[in-house]
Amino acid sequence: MPEASNRMGSYLRSNDSVRDELDTVLRVGEGALPDRLRGVLYRNGPGKVEVFGTKYSHPFDGDGMVARFAFDGHAVRYRNRFVRTDEYVAEERARRMLYRSFGTNLPGGVIRNFLRLRFKNAANTSVILHGGKLLALWEGGLPHRLDPVTLDTLGRYDFDGALANRTGRLSRWMSPDLPFSAHPKLDLDSGELVNFGTLMGAKNRLVSYRVRRDGVMSAPSFTNLESLCFVHDFVLTKHYCVYFLSAVSFRVGATLAGLATPVGSLSGASDAAASILVVPRDGRSSFAVPAAPGFVFHFANGYEDARGFVVLDGMRMPSLPSASDVQKLLDGEDVNIPSATPTRYLVDPVGRTVSETALTSTPADLPTIDPRFVGRQNRHFWAVAGEAGNASPLAHRILHFDHEGPHAERDFGVDFPGEPLFVPTSPDAKEGEGWILSLVYRVEAHRSDLYILRASDLATECRVELPHHNPPGFHGVWCPSLAS
Ligand SMILES: [Fe+2]
Repeated sequence: MPEASNRMGSYLRSNDSVRDELDTVLRVGEGALPDRLRGVLYRNGPGKVEVFGTKYSHPFDGDGMVARFAFDGHAVRYRNRFVRTDEYVAEERARRMLYRSFGTNLPGGVIRNFLRLRFKNAANTSVILHGGKLLALWEGGLPHRLDPVTLDTLGRYDFDGALANRTGRLSRWMSPDLPFSAHPKLDLDSGELVNFGTLMGAKNRLVSYRVRRDGVMSAPSFTNLESLCFVHDFVLTKHYCVYFLSAVSFRVGATLAGLATPVGSLSGASDAAASILVVPRDGRSSFAVPAAPGFVFHFANGYEDARGFVVLDGMRMPSLPSASDVQKLLDGEDVNIPSATPTRYLVDPVGRTVSETALTSTPADLPTIDPRFVGRQNRHFWAVAGEAGNASPLAHRILHFDHEGPHAERDFGVDFPGEPLFVPTSPDAKEGEGWILSLVYRVEAHRSDLYILRASDLATECRVELPHHNPPGFHGVWCPSLAS
């Protein structure tokens, strides 16, 4: 493990803003490209952490930059483009920060932030292809549609008006569009895309969405929440959508008045009970099951077992990390942000009880599974992992967790691996037979490399070199059907 000061220096450098947008064939630096690996990998993440010299205060605020890696069996063609949101374009013209972000207020104090509710859509969290449309996602607002080949931004996308906020006046004032989270799930039986958003107003609500295989969205449905919750991900099973609701407090007045950012107004408590909200997909009433305190950003997967119990594998933190601690990371402090522990929740929807068990002591997050097992019983997941007993949020490993066999870990030394995405070797390969794709920040070269690892033991099959670096990003998707 590198020394803390070196590690923080490397992390800060990994977050340098990207200056160039490229279109090039990547050099193979190690191994050989598997010729059966054909398709397109898209990744999204913050490409700039400042606007003409004004730094964002939170790592979640950086401007979304989508990277495209097209594999044709012989070579990998790389392209990266910033998402041209309306706010991004206006700031590029003005050459200064014009908008508040969820974790960043405008410089100038209250007078410049008071009642300014037009937040910048960062478009930086994930990217999906569904219904023939490539969408860059951000949980606070509308998706942005991109050209799947050129990555040109085609505009904000509201599913033909379905994401217009038609709820109460207060809610519409705070959020004219319904938010569409960055973690939609594909129903493997119907081809429907299922997603959610959380909405503030006179009532706090969870909004549920269904998008048909052809891209048409049904009218959203609403579930009232007892209090405002910060929900980032959910689990889709055959009969349910399941959400982990943590007790958080939100100082709405401070946000409206410009005294604090929305993220800075959120605080969690490690001793406050949480609950698991179960929303039946057939329209029956939802119900909440009390759970031990905790906070879950991401789930690996979930499914219903033979008894009808709902099994959820979540990356459980003791509580929501504080915004000020996260901000310190960008200031170069090696803060001890509580790490996430892979945890299995077992929910009895009849008895309305839940039990939880830690799956491993290895801290891990950004979990992924074989995408052919969404909502179905899965044996494997992969995640970015830290070291047991080390509370630093900076992680240098990838974990392969096997519910039925030994686990594997790959240590990248001083380098920073990104979300490990699984690609099966063929459509009918056994679960877990495939590759892991991870974009790794190489500290010494100040460059990113795309690693293609054998999914079972995480050995390198191939490493291709980017001519520049990508800051550590969030989520991506593999699209096997796209011609490259
Ligand atoms: Fe996420």
